[in-house]
Amino acid sequence: MPVITKEQVLGALSTVMDPELNKDLVTLKMIKDMQVQDSKVAFTIELTTPACPLKAQIKQDAENAVMALDGVESVDITMGARVPKDEKIKDLSIKNIIAVGSGKGGVGKSTIAVNLAVALANCGASVGLMDADIYGPNVPTMMGVEGLPPTPQNMKIQPAMAYGVKVMSIGFMVTPGQPLIWRGPMLHSAIKQFLMDVDWGELDYLIVDLPPGTGDVQLSLVQTVPLSGGVIVTTPQQVSFDDAARAVSMFKKMDVPILGIIENMSYLEMEDGSQRRIFGEGGGENLARMAGAPLLSNIPIDENIRVGGDQGDPVVIAMPDSPGAIAMEALAQAIAARMSMEIYQ
Ligand SMILES: Nc1ncnc2c1ncn2[C@@H]1O[C@H](COP(=O)(O)OP(=O)(O)OP(=O)(O)O)[C@@H](O)[C@H]1O
Ligand SMILES: [Mg+2]
Repeated sequence: MPVITKEQVLGALSTVMDPELNKDLVTLKMIKDMQVQDSKVAFTIELTTPACPLKAQIKQDAENAVMALDGVESVDITMGARVPKDEKIKDLSIKNIIAVGSGKGGVGKSTIAVNLAVALANCGASVGLMDADIYGPNVPTMMGVEGLPPTPQNMKIQPAMAYGVKVMSIGFMVTPGQPLIWRGPMLHSAIKQFLMDVDWGELDYLIVDLPPGTGDVQLSLVQTVPLSGGVIVTTPQQVSFDDAARAVSMFKKMDVPILGIIENMSYLEMEDGSQRRIFGEGGGENLARMAGAPLLSNIPIDENIRVGGDQGDPVVIAMPDSPGAIAMEALAQAIAARMSMEIYQ
């Protein structure tokens, strides 16, 4: 029987591609902890995100490639993940910061930010969620969080914890009846403090829910928070397009890579299986074309999404088999994949 060497196994694995990063697993240095004993081979494939949509396919391809080697009887593959760090983010052990924005209010930013964060955490990523919407901080309600836990003296601010996600809202920092003046340098330092003084710990992803619009406040946020990427939410109709296009321009002006466009409330699925386009159509596609970024998802109108938000029980947890939850899960994987591609470029 031929003796198998690690080099042979690596040779076989160098033919297996990560279809999204478009490089082979060996070049991407994804193969770890290899053990070869007689005819038995074991190793770990370390992906760039635990939310990889192609996990099962990559595992199968690797198994097939190694099993095809003469003399291999069994292959034991462990799937792991290590999210690459965006070097732009200094002084924080956060690997990627992703903003969810839109020029228009009420299009579903907070709902998407919440479900994105929870879906990524569900895949095994360490995730934080920062509600930066000073006009209407909705994240606490949508995550079922009432306030912050007590912070011990001389310690950083402890975020709340819900569904495996560390949650912080700008709403927690404002004393009722004493509005902060969200202008100029004070705004900058408030945002900086908001980001730096929270005990985020080590995070793979920090999701930021931006306030609607493209005014000074939004601009300050995008300037102050070191964003690794942004996604822009729109609805199918034209009025939403014009506002969302301004958000695209804002991200571009600030050199924030646009990971993709999300069209929310795209259609309502009828009982006979047909789809009713209540809010028109084409908005997401048009915006994607204008932005030069992919359209990542068309999320249906689903009552479960709304109920999940109102009850503080995100749809991806409360009703994982609903069309809304399935769309949100797929979206989270698409965003994680786009983020990896951005860092590896
Ligand atoms: N796909 C959907 N299906 C059903 N309801 C939805 C969907 N997306 C969002 N909603 C509901 O629409 C409302 C507005 O959503 P959300 O608060 O997330 O929007 P927003 O863009 O964050 O708004 P704002 O600009 O006020 O921050 C919420 O009640 C939410 O539950
Ligand atoms: Mg919101």
